[in-house]
Amino acid sequence: MATASASASTSTSGPIVLPPLPWAENALEPVISANTIGFHYGKHHKTYVDTANKMIAGTEYANITLEKLIGATAGKADKTGIFNNAAQAWNHTFYWNSLRPKGGGEPPSMLKQKIEAAFGSVDACKKEWSAAALAQFGSGWAWLAADAGKLKIIKTANADTPIAHGVKPLLTIDVWEHAYYLDYQNKRADYVNAVLNKLINWDFAEKNLG
Ligand SMILES: [Fe+2]
Repeated sequence: MATASASASTSTSGPIVLPPLPWAENALEPVISANTIGFHYGKHHKTYVDTANKMIAGTEYANITLEKLIGATAGKADKTGIFNNAAQAWNHTFYWNSLRPKGGGEPPSMLKQKIEAAFGSVDACKKEWSAAALAQFGSGWAWLAADAGKLKIIKTANADTPIAHGVKPLLTIDVWEHAYYLDYQNKRADYVNAVLNKLINWDFAEKNLG
């Protein structure tokens, strides 16, 4: 069966870019199919990037970084459309980097110590993370984050992102249905647990700890 050819082009016009995926579209199989990645990256993520670029063209937001654009539009009722698309562009790039083939397993030692200090154990951290992902009603994101130096699990609704709230994200799991429906239908728990056990990129979290 042919996989989605949606990701053929990464070209966009505007300051916000669609970065290439950090791995091949089929590299996360069988946990996440190439078909899901093709649509998720090539259609959903690309549309957020393209829409944000269209919305900021010719405005005061046209020449600032994506992070500054998110900060400048967060919480402003008349800028919700820009915020949603900009935050989703950022969140998705962060999500791709939060996953890797042959991920999961033991976190690197420095991160593991911080996880154990905050949650008691890596398993307890994953349990809380999974519970947050399942408790997110509707679309959103479940994050491992550092808040004033302490690790915690948070969830955000729709496009919302920790960087709009002064919290440092370390890893994320996309719990919008488009992230898992083709592979898991409505079984969000199966998708989340498979990601945590087989794909989560602990090295990226340690890098983000800085
Ligand atoms: Fe998504």
